[in-house]
Amino acid sequence: MLHERRILVGVSGGIAAYKTVYLVRRLIEQGAEVRVMMTASALEFVGRQSFAAITGHHPATGLFGADSVSPHTELAQWAEAVVVAPATANTLAKAAHGISDDLVSTTLLATTAPMLFAPAMHTEMWENAATRRNVAALEADGHSMVGPASGTLAGGDTGPGRMAEPEEILQALDRLLAGRLSGIRVLVTAGGTREPIDPVRFVGNRSSGKMGFAIAQEAAACGADVTLVSSATRPAPTGVALIEVETAEEMAKSVAKLASEAEVVVMAAAVADFRPVDAAGTKLRRSEGIPELQLEPTPDILAGLAAMEQPPYLVGFAAETGSIDRAVEKARTKGVDVIVANDVTAEGSGFGSDTNQVALIDRRGTVDRWPLLSKREVARRLCDFLADQLQGRTGDG
Ligand code: CTP
Repeated sequence: MLHERRILVGVSGGIAAYKTVYLVRRLIEQGAEVRVMMTASALEFVGRQSFAAITGHHPATGLFGADSVSPHTELAQWAEAVVVAPATANTLAKAAHGISDDLVSTTLLATTAPMLFAPAMHTEMWENAATRRNVAALEADGHSMVGPASGTLAGGDTGPGRMAEPEEILQALDRLLAGRLSGIRVLVTAGGTREPIDPVRFVGNRSSGKMGFAIAQEAAACGADVTLVSSATRPAPTGVALIEVETAEEMAKSVAKLASEAEVVVMAAAVADFRPVDAAGTKLRRSEGIPELQLEPTPDILAGLAAMEQPPYLVGFAAETGSIDRAVEKARTKGVDVIVANDVTAEGSGFGSDTNQVALIDRRGTVDRWPLLSKREVARRLCDFLADQLQGRTGDG
């Protein structure tokens, strides 16, 4: 589970920081990519070099003067999960209240990655009403705690407050990364289909497949069992089963075969609406004159899915040019659960771009506009949204 995952480890000032060195080493052994950030107090307990030697990267310790002009946002965006170990009472308090007065606290405020805190402090501090409130607030915000354990504390006292052992933290991190879509079967389509005119030429569109691939990748990172049916030729994201197709017809066949097994289908592909009636078997020659292209409709894959007896949760995409009003209409009429609409002519959105500005529109036509985000971030948020929706479905029975 930790293989190739990007884990940011925050170290705050407690004697348990010496165990964090071993935790980082275990993360590396498991194939994780690890970056470390340390508070000023943490530096009193362990040296930067210990972490640098193990991770191959100097730990980040300050907001200013580092190589990066914005270390907190860089680390915040890079991380797939953040582990704060040890998490002192002070660090928990800052995280709970959004205080951002050093690199670690600012990064915790800037990240959208899930966070795991391994508290370590004296029993009285752990049991203090203020710490109780802070821990409850962090848990209510969706973050997780591991430990503390009971045992001998610095100064010879005993009681709850000892940082959880590295192996226990690793297990908690595994559970955290198993993700919100764990065990859910998700079928994603991506790319623009190519409808042959002859063996050389096709009718196509500008879709790059980036959005669909990002969704497949993020859904897999959230623990989903993902199949991607794609007409874009890009390398398969880690953990995703890729089926390559070319035409709308082939995509329709693949989707029909797989849809009954899926709990969610995300139709991010730009499926051609029309195809040439009879593709020529051999290359059309210029000398033969201007060909007359007769078009016929392709199968409407989304409509087929919506007509299933027990349709999966259906996410449609609507590429519009200009206003998204027509997408609102599509959301109402297409039998999908939600439409992800974007104006492909808007700056920073659309085909080939690495960013996208979308609006989510539900069956009732309620529009939720998202800001301009990287396609990866759109995919992340969409997976979060799907996890919420599926939970709602199960909850409703
Ligand atoms: N779609 C599909 N099968 C098709 C065409 C489109 O399943 N033959 C899906 C797309 O994958 C997308 C959604 O339908 O999720 C909307 O595509 P879009 O082309 O915007 O919708 P249309 O209904 O074709 O509307 P328009 O009138 O704008 O062409």
